[in-house]
Amino acid sequence: MASVSFKDIQKTFGKVKVIQGISFDIADGEFVVLVGPSGCGKSTLLRMLAGLEEISGGEIAIDGKVVNDLESKDRDIAMVFQSYALYPHMTVGENMAFSLRLRNAEKDLMSQRVAKAAKILNLDALLERYPRELSGGQRQRVAMGRAIVRDPKVFLFDEPLSNLDAKLRVAMRAEIKALHQRLKTTTVYVTHDQIEAMTMADRIVVMHDGIVEQIGTPLELYDRPVNLFVAQFIGSPAMNVVEGMARQVDGVCQVEAQGSLWPVPPGANAPDNTPVHYGIRPGDISLADPGHGVPARVVVVEPTGAETELLVQVGESQLVVTVHGRVDVGPDDEVGLVVDAKRAHLFDRASGRRMG
Ligand SMILES: Nc1ncnc2c1ncn2[C@@H]1O[C@H](COP(=O)(O)OP(=O)(O)OP(=O)(O)O)[C@@H](O)[C@H]1O
Ligand SMILES: [Mg+2]
Repeated sequence: MASVSFKDIQKTFGKVKVIQGISFDIADGEFVVLVGPSGCGKSTLLRMLAGLEEISGGEIAIDGKVVNDLESKDRDIAMVFQSYALYPHMTVGENMAFSLRLRNAEKDLMSQRVAKAAKILNLDALLERYPRELSGGQRQRVAMGRAIVRDPKVFLFDEPLSNLDAKLRVAMRAEIKALHQRLKTTTVYVTHDQIEAMTMADRIVVMHDGIVEQIGTPLELYDRPVNLFVAQFIGSPAMNVVEGMARQVDGVCQVEAQGSLWPVPPGANAPDNTPVHYGIRPGDISLADPGHGVPARVVVVEPTGAETELLVQVGESQLVVTVHGRVDVGPDDEVGLVVDAKRAHLFDRASGRRMG
């Protein structure tokens, strides 16, 4: 097990700087999830940590020891990719033992480790099979098995579940989490999946254009995004954002947007006439009869069973509203929107930064 530290990490490909000074620490045993738009540098950061990509600037340390010049094979890191290529001519057992065989491990140790990993991953009965005789989820487990047998200091996962169908993803997500609870190996995990990030991470790192926008626990990021980018990136469906102006009404700050006044949370305050972005999550708005709250018109109603998602028109803006259970409104109906003021967010329009 090990801690990891990134200090002012830079990466340039040719003339293009794709990582622009990233610093953060990962504690021993921590499960950290990297998220961010495609091309923001997640895989590059993982590959630099694994030693598969040269570091252009800064320092990466594992357990306090700088590894910049250490070869990949000496870093004691195991990586599981999205396209986990198993060796087709080797059985499950041989696939799992392969990395140890490369390291000339003793036969006993090898079979011990493989047996242990197979037990953890429920692959005992499949050790003699070939990859082509396995389901997608079983193959993915073998790929994880190959990483586990090495008993590495750090596990790296780069979108390991994105090739699996929805049901299998949920199952594998639980398995990876259980695995981490059992082995407590420091883990860095890249995903595009909001639910994966929210449910698996001790902390989430939100990246954007080669920098870190925010690091925090899933709920910290969800409840108090530091800027508009994080606010709109974390959460699904995404936070509603409307452009508006701060107004001081009888000493209370509100936001005027799309012809209505919107309440802001206690603690958020902006001088009169400050251009702002007003943010409110779909689940923090409730429906009321017309005449209450902000007037809106229903555009689309999408029942998903437990919840109903509505698209509503407010002035020129369209907002998503999620309500628990069913609703008895339909397209073109007039409704009122009641905002849970303490769960609203206020951002400075010029800088995008959170206010309050
Ligand atoms: N070998 C390379 N040569 C040149 N540019 C590269 C190379 N590898 C990556 N890049 C560029 O670096 C940037 C970051 O790529 P990276 O693969 O780290 O993104 P990512 O966040 O993992 O994206 P995705 O979510 O699509 O996997 C991209 O703009 C990419 O085009
Ligand atoms: Mg990637």
